[in-house]
Amino acid sequence: MKTYQSDVVIIGSGLAALYTAAKLMKKKRVIVLTKKGWQASNSFLAQGGIAAAYAPDDDWHRQLEDAMRAGRYHNDVNETAYLARESKVQVDELIRLGMKFDRDRNGTILLAREGGHSAARVLHAHGDATGRELTSFVKRYVEQQITIHEQTQVVELLVRNGRCVGALAKDPSGETVLYQAQNIVLATGGCGQLYAPTSADPAVTGDGLALAYRAGAALKDMEFVQFHPTLLIENNHVYGLVSEAVRGEGAKLIDQDGNRLLAGKHPLEDLAPRDVVSRVLFKAKKTGQAKKIYLDISMIDHFSDHFPTITGLCRKAGVDIAKGRIPVSPGAHFLMGGIETDHEGRTTLPGLYAVGECACTGVHGANRIASHSLLEAITYAGTAASSMMDEKAIPAEQVAAESGSRSVPALPAKAEIQKMMFAHVGIWRTKQSLTTAIDWCRSWNIDFNRSERLDGTKDEMERLNMLTVAWLIATSALERTESRGGHTRIDYPEEIEDWRTKNILREVTSVEQ
Ligand code: SIN
Repeated sequence: MKTYQSDVVIIGSGLAALYTAAKLMKKKRVIVLTKKGWQASNSFLAQGGIAAAYAPDDDWHRQLEDAMRAGRYHNDVNETAYLARESKVQVDELIRLGMKFDRDRNGTILLAREGGHSAARVLHAHGDATGRELTSFVKRYVEQQITIHEQTQVVELLVRNGRCVGALAKDPSGETVLYQAQNIVLATGGCGQLYAPTSADPAVTGDGLALAYRAGAALKDMEFVQFHPTLLIENNHVYGLVSEAVRGEGAKLIDQDGNRLLAGKHPLEDLAPRDVVSRVLFKAKKTGQAKKIYLDISMIDHFSDHFPTITGLCRKAGVDIAKGRIPVSPGAHFLMGGIETDHEGRTTLPGLYAVGECACTGVHGANRIASHSLLEAITYAGTAASSMMDEKAIPAEQVAAESGSRSVPALPAKAEIQKMMFAHVGIWRTKQSLTTAIDWCRSWNIDFNRSERLDGTKDEMERLNMLTVAWLIATSALERTESRGGHTRIDYPEEIEDWRTKNILREVTSVEQ
């Protein structure tokens, strides 16, 4: 079998992956693996920006308090404080490296307002193309010194004597290849594609979460899925996201008759945290109060200059922005839970790290505040890289890939999983809906409680990952008998103090080595 040796192998190619590579590349040999082209990530699609307390009258304590309030106080307060304190330090470093954020004519950084924030503190680039600009900037920074293997899909993490020592992947031709390294880093993003509609890139199917779980690492808080209120959806087709920054500029959510939907629903009205806004919109649709939902943008001058990406999406959707209304609806956007990590991005499996959306650092609590995802990606890329740099080198032994896999059994189509998840494990959940989902996941002949070596095509492995993560979310959601942040139980509608600091963990009972 073709084998690659490196110090660090990073799986994924979004901002967390590339920034981890940037921090390591002067001292370590780094290979980045990604299952599609390098641009296929949610980081690349991110519109809003990076939150940092830049304004003279703002400070990180306020940012911390806003993040805790949006996260419904389920956040790890130490990590959230670290993130808020680091925000300006991290952004300053990006600027020093040459990243260009939008500025006014006098050179002052422009700061946007987004949901849940008590101040304008979101830095952006090229209007609403922050993710694309930032990810491309970091890619240019690292590309001379690291190797990126595209169209290479990891199908198994190799564990020997309780340590993650490598990964098996299918290369562009479908051949199985072995990557061996002292450290493996999962930076595969979340699992938005488990749902339809979603703002997520088609590549974001929860692979890293399922790989980590099967390898024996603990997952945490999987029930907390964030639904973004404003996806641009026309004729049942999702064209992309309409950033919260549009509401930051004054846009209002209205029904088909122009009635405001968020008035009186929260002190911040249209700029309430996302979980609140999504629930209001979902309820309005479900109860028939609103037949269609629009963002009224008529008050925003020069919309296309501020929001060129959204203007392009509207053009594709046949929406004429001159009419002042964009049709929107909520859809899956972000996973607050994920692979349990410590401050340095270490998972519970030695040798394995996780960074970015697939990791659960605890900074988002039950509902992530706007523009804290790119911030988390760069901040914890730094702590993880420092930790890997400090690790004592372990002499590389030849690792043999074990044989004896069972073929992946027949699995549902992606669209079936997506439909089932939105209907039963979506914005509104009940014991009955969750039980239906869990029974359905179990009906596909996979024992999710134990780790079994399975082999299949790239597409089959992706659907196996999706089904595994669907089961993890549904079982965790059934266990949490309260409503908090992104997790709404119609049968347990209140936040319950006893649940506030409790985490639901998921681990396989046995790992095949
Ligand atoms: C947005 O621009 O509304 C999304 C940004 C984010 O997910 O924080």
